[in-house]
Amino acid sequence: MLTRRGFISTGLRVGAGLAAGSAATFLSGCAHRVAGPATLPSVTNQITGSGSLKAHAAAHGLLTGAAVAIPLLRSDPAYARVLSEQYSILVAENAMKWKALRPAPDRFSFGEADALVAFAEQNSIKVRGHNLCWHEALPDWFAVTVTKENARQFLTDHIMNVAGRYKGKMHSWDVVNEAVDAKSGRDDGLRKSPWFEMLGPDYLDIAFRTAREADPHALLTYNEYGIEYDNEEEAQKRAFTLQLLRRLKAANVPLDAVGIQSHIRAGSSYSFGNGIREFMASARQMGLQVFITEMDVNDDELPDDDVAKVDHAIAAVYRDYLTTVLAEPAVTAVLTWGVSDGHTWLNNPMRKQRHPNRPQRPLPFDENYRPKEAFFAMRDSFDKGMSRNLVND
Ligand code: XIL
Repeated sequence: MLTRRGFISTGLRVGAGLAAGSAATFLSGCAHRVAGPATLPSVTNQITGSGSLKAHAAAHGLLTGAAVAIPLLRSDPAYARVLSEQYSILVAENAMKWKALRPAPDRFSFGEADALVAFAEQNSIKVRGHNLCWHEALPDWFAVTVTKENARQFLTDHIMNVAGRYKGKMHSWDVVNEAVDAKSGRDDGLRKSPWFEMLGPDYLDIAFRTAREADPHALLTYNEYGIEYDNEEEAQKRAFTLQLLRRLKAANVPLDAVGIQSHIRAGSSYSFGNGIREFMASARQMGLQVFITEMDVNDDELPDDDVAKVDHAIAAVYRDYLTTVLAEPAVTAVLTWGVSDGHTWLNNPMRKQRHPNRPQRPLPFDENYRPKEAFFAMRDSFDKGMSRNLVND
């Protein structure tokens, strides 16, 4: 049984006009104004309002959203406008990670996270929290301050403070991110993360129980990557992930959803299908919802081709993948890891690029916020997906 907490009747509540107005109000107080809505393409009319991603998703009981870079939200009105017009749920790309929230062991810095929550509230958009416990994005002080002796206190204090601050405002929280490492050599496949090294497998139980205490309304989510494809490595990781979810459920640990990150690739020699289908069905049988939390399509493996061909291939992957996952009734939200190709982690300078002269194009909008083929593939997939008439509100 799914633990969905209300009817979705609100999907179309945010009309394009109202949303754009609120975005403008939000931005009017910001210092750096850049190019305004005039830069939006004429095709905008057919893709907003009843033509938006969120309207097409809502018609089938789905939420759809994107990861948000708060500096962009503050500086770029066109970005804010696309967010308000297209999405029913948002997540901070970085602003709610430890590194962003914890400048020092005894200090919290909520400016960016608060800005996202305020923007979402003004535009009647839901928010996912990402994340409360991860082996990455830890502040520099962490390694020299957190020890076996105080780790439990640091973890519970952090969760009580952060999830407590947004209590009642969050759709869901990624409570633990990426706890499985099939290559760890352990029978349970748990990653030897700093949290694991200090607290053992129990760190997950502690994190979820504390999150429930801090915010009883948020859907508590376990979020994982590398579980999408039908190959041996990912099949093994799916098995370890299910083993973990079952253990948590058996121990009565509060857990409402599993997030499948969905950083997938165009031109891959692997395909997806039965593996992820069975994984999602198993999650449903445990009473979990399934969220597609960080979808994007890496085009590194495509030939160094012209952009139209790249975009076409990427859209085909969006279509295939979303058609596959949306056949599963437990899937209630689809989020991409970013909005436009102008800002994607896949083009971060730190990452090695196979095609240095052709930046990656993994997202539904191009660098000028024009909808790409992938946008239409998303919309079509929402249309074709089965109807879910219940999601949490
Ligand atoms: C990424 C951000 O997009 C980057 O800006 C940052 O430098 C590193 O983290 N899985 C996750 C996300 O759960 O938090 C990651 O986000 C992408 C992979």
